[in-house]
Amino acid sequence: TLEDFTMGELTFSIIKPDAVANNKIGDILKMISDSGLKIKATKMIHMSKTQAEGFYAVHKERPFFGELVEFMISGPCVVSVLEGDNAIKRYRDLMGATNPADAVEGTIRKAFGAGIEANACHGSDGPDTAKVEVSYFFSNLELVN
Ligand code: TYD
Repeated sequence: TLEDFTMGELTFSIIKPDAVANNKIGDILKMISDSGLKIKATKMIHMSKTQAEGFYAVHKERPFFGELVEFMISGPCVVSVLEGDNAIKRYRDLMGATNPADAVEGTIRKAFGAGIEANACHGSDGPDTAKVEVSYFFSNLELVN
């Protein structure tokens, strides 16, 4: 299993289409690296509607679901697997509040988020979702050194 090859905790990250379109891939990956999280795997993708609907299936009854899916397929994303002690919480802290207006200084969303939808990044919210999300976009072969 993944755990057999992993030192710290794994989490899953998306640099969303707004941040990619604004040329912020490098800035965001640098913030991740500078925070001490290890970038275990990364690639650029452009999600299909079906892939985006599947990824956000937990939100399918929410009023913003349709718009969120359209936004996520509006351009390419950079998906990554991050590794480190307590990586899930550390990356959530680095991202900042869902609404960039509420995000504190030094966070990715404060620096690059434009609004609650175009908020620059996604990070897994717990160990179970991290596992599902990593394997939604990455195979074991892409993760094992
Ligand atoms: P959520 O899981 O609540 O936030 P987070 O990304 O911080 O874990 O929501 C998922 C995404 O849905 C969020 O990043 C942006 C979008 N979203 C909206 O477009 N409108 C909303 O009102 C909310 C709550 C979220």
